[in-house]
Amino acid sequence: MDLKRIRNSSLHTKIMSAEEACNFIEDGMTIGMSGFTRAGEAKEVPRALAEKAKVSPLKINLITGASLGNDLDKLLTEAGALARRMPFQVDNTLRKAINKGEVMFIDQHLSETVESMRNNQLDKPDVAIIEAVAITEEGHIVPTTSIGNSASFAMFADKVIVEINMLHSDKLEGMHDIYIPEARPNRTPVPILNVDDRVGAQAIAIDPSKIVGIVFTNKSDSFSTVSDPDEETDQIAKHLVKFFEKEVEEKRLPENLGPLQAGIGNIANAVMMGLLDSKFTGLSMYSEVLQDSTFDLIDAGKLDFASGCSIILSERVNAQVFDNLDKYRDKLVLRPQEMSNLPEIVRRLGIIAINTALEFDIYGNVNSTHVCGTKMMNGIGGSGDFARNANISVFVTKSIAKGGAISSVVPMVSHVDHCEHDVDILVTDQGLADLRGLAPRERAVQVINNCVHEDYREALLDYFERACERGGHTPHLLEEAFSWHTRLESEGSMKKA
Ligand code: COA
Repeated sequence: MDLKRIRNSSLHTKIMSAEEACNFIEDGMTIGMSGFTRAGEAKEVPRALAEKAKVSPLKINLITGASLGNDLDKLLTEAGALARRMPFQVDNTLRKAINKGEVMFIDQHLSETVESMRNNQLDKPDVAIIEAVAITEEGHIVPTTSIGNSASFAMFADKVIVEINMLHSDKLEGMHDIYIPEARPNRTPVPILNVDDRVGAQAIAIDPSKIVGIVFTNKSDSFSTVSDPDEETDQIAKHLVKFFEKEVEEKRLPENLGPLQAGIGNIANAVMMGLLDSKFTGLSMYSEVLQDSTFDLIDAGKLDFASGCSIILSERVNAQVFDNLDKYRDKLVLRPQEMSNLPEIVRRLGIIAINTALEFDIYGNVNSTHVCGTKMMNGIGGSGDFARNANISVFVTKSIAKGGAISSVVPMVSHVDHCEHDVDILVTDQGLADLRGLAPRERAVQVINNCVHEDYREALLDYFERACERGGHTPHLLEEAFSWHTRLESEGSMKKA
């Protein structure tokens, strides 16, 4: 414990244990918690809450920025403490509970959650639990490695619990830019005109009398589990870099491409790594999550500036960044997720959005969330915030999954997250389909010729040709459109025996 981290000394009396802080949380409450893609989540109070729920059952409605680390979603699920959960998760235990219908999961565009609260379309948190590096003289909260929805949660909540995490460097102070939009309908434009513009405060401004408890903690964020690039992701990256080179050559993109956004997960991270070997310099990111690739690109002198709302790193890169924060200070900013993902800014800055699909279909519809149309994987996250509003909306995926039993290119997606109108470029290890300005029948030819794995190409072409014989603007054989998915479920593979 270091009292210097609580610079408003009137708050020193609020220091308590995580167990004591749990007494502010009651059955049926809506809890707003910090945490975005397993970074910057409150750690000890939710852990204590899970323990408490095991002996005196309670259920909460838990809203965060995005996914939580330190197995918190797992622990809360196992304790039966989650009635409702939004807006994103990546935990296997919670995923199973969601898919059994035991936890009601609301999968929402990540820019929208606090806007919905602001407009009373969603319950505001009764209690907000926010991880911080410090509390300022004014009693304002300095977040840690993510901002996510923390600022608005703390502003909207009746009571605020702060976890001061001594393991996070106090040098994180100054990295945040907290801008809260005005109420509608008279809102003025958000004044972010460049990726590195700072337009807000460095701490979350709340009335300190709302802080009912302060808990000191000493636990690190979970390391990211992204895997190293492999042969397929290298191929995806190569196709995309070649496409970017052509766009620059034909003057449709500037030499530095304009701001980039890259989604979560192995594939998007590996694709960004591919830019290390490219000729591009002077790059910038206006993204949601800053992963290993962001810092590798900065270190390589390729990336000048990165704006995001959370930093999640592997063990390899973690020390490289957090032990050398001064080196990155003028190259980074963390914003609330409604700012990092704001459609207004995505459109204004002309962002190239690169997100990952589970599957896409011959006409360019993308499924990022539902395995076989029914089982939730993680959630849409911010992909929709970016895809619809991007200058160029790219979706990447490997052409096959599960050892070839699944084709990621199917006749009709089993669930639509990004419709054909929001998708410009599709890339797999096989190649790249440029769908811009094409009618559905033209798109299908591009997709089948360029993106499909050879094991499935003939079957997909056969489907398309027979569908075209039947006619339509977007030809389909409705009785067969999901046959690849039903075969996977009944026979374990999309391939015909
Ligand atoms: N059907 C079933 N499973 C599939 C599949 C398909 N069509 N395609 C891939 N998978 C499986 C993979 O086999 C892998 O399974 P495993 O964990 O058991 O090995 C898993 O999905 C993850 O795939 P991976 O290839 O490792 O990709 P990833 O880590 O890049 O994740 C998404 C891909 C789509 C799950 C992930 O990007 C996501 O959740 N996206 C939606 C949210 C989003 O885009 N957020 C960013 C906004 S800024």
